[in-house]
Amino acid sequence: MDYDTAQKYLKEIGQEQLLEYYPELTAAERAELLKDIESTDFSVLENIDKPPKPRGRIEPLKPLSCEEISARSKEFEEAGLKLLSQGKVAAVLLAGGQGTRLGFNKPKGMFDIGVTRPLPLFELHMADMLSVANRAKRAFHVFIMTSRANNGETIDFFKQNGYFGYPEDKIHFFIQDVAPACSFEGKVYLKNKHSVLSAPNGNGGWYKSLISSGLNSVLERDGVEWVNVCGVDNVLQRFCDPLFVGATVLGGYSCSAKIVRKERPEENVGLLCKVDGRPSVIEYYEMDENLKCERENGKLVYCNGITLNYLFGLKALNAVDCAHFPYHLAKKKIEHLEHGVEVCPASPCGYKFETLVVDMVNAMDNCLPFEVKRNKEFAPLKNSEGADSVETARALLIENGFKL
Ligand code: UTP
Repeated sequence: MDYDTAQKYLKEIGQEQLLEYYPELTAAERAELLKDIESTDFSVLENIDKPPKPRGRIEPLKPLSCEEISARSKEFEEAGLKLLSQGKVAAVLLAGGQGTRLGFNKPKGMFDIGVTRPLPLFELHMADMLSVANRAKRAFHVFIMTSRANNGETIDFFKQNGYFGYPEDKIHFFIQDVAPACSFEGKVYLKNKHSVLSAPNGNGGWYKSLISSGLNSVLERDGVEWVNVCGVDNVLQRFCDPLFVGATVLGGYSCSAKIVRKERPEENVGLLCKVDGRPSVIEYYEMDENLKCERENGKLVYCNGITLNYLFGLKALNAVDCAHFPYHLAKKKIEHLEHGVEVCPASPCGYKFETLVVDMVNAMDNCLPFEVKRNKEFAPLKNSEGADSVETARALLIENGFKL
């Protein structure tokens, strides 16, 4: 794209600010900026004014309770371990986020949760995976989604740490896609005078990005049938849990989600339920007050709090158009260029555009909510202090016997 074409195009879409510093750039910088403009998907900006989609009929989705799981644990565990020992299960670790709330400027998986010794989240997770692999007597494939910004650092970290003892040939990295970030007025930001600001486009793009990387050939080559997709920031995350795998497969489901039981109506957690007969995750702020408070035998009816731990059947996933999930607007602090200088805002200043794994669940015909005990499996690390913080995550690790 040459300058004239770029200028005309940006004028048409109201984004001429991206050329503000063009006159003062070197030839190489000009070329870089024009290339950036050409490759930016400005269509995501249409999501700013989109009215929210009307919700359909919401119904509860009964979870498989901890008691029911415990009663059939031997059967579930055996089925899960059998699939793992046959190499039919793989893990996907979502590690492409930016962790802006935590305020950690490295890959979140490198965050050191240790107290008397270094204990990065990646080490915790790889140790959990190794213990499952040892029980199954076979290491499963681990696909780690990174972003353009943190891919190199993540790979180096794994190398420096000897892949945390996990077989190196089973660990694969792939980079997720990006989307431009903009002000609340919809003006796309510059990162510096010669590059458009883009950010990772959310965790819902993992399968599309995995396919673009060519790594789906590994899944096909090795006959993988199930993929366990997990966030990097739950310090009690359990990967490829044989119980979870077994319950999903024996129940004949296409997908399942580990959930924690919501106890109080005001808890801010996404809820797995049914909308128009399909599995769906409703955000807490989208939920009607009456439904939020509805109880049966004293327990909340809408109680399936999601934990970002999903198991997807690949056959079902391959039947879905993973390239066209909707974009959601996320209000974030976005470092950007303002009046020629890079600024680091103290509060959210604009939108990032994110696809979400929950939309994948909605595309499935069914989904099993699999209950886990909150204090055993759910300790998200989102903030530097307060709720879901370093302090709360450490306390839960200690409660679960981890030496920090
Ligand atoms: P969050 O939604 O908490 O986002 O990610 P984040 O970027 O880590 O943190 P904030 O919102 O900026 O503070 C939940 C999970 O999804 C992954 C994260 O790495 C985390 O495991 N994620 C998120 C991605 O892999 N890519 C993304 O674009 C966003």
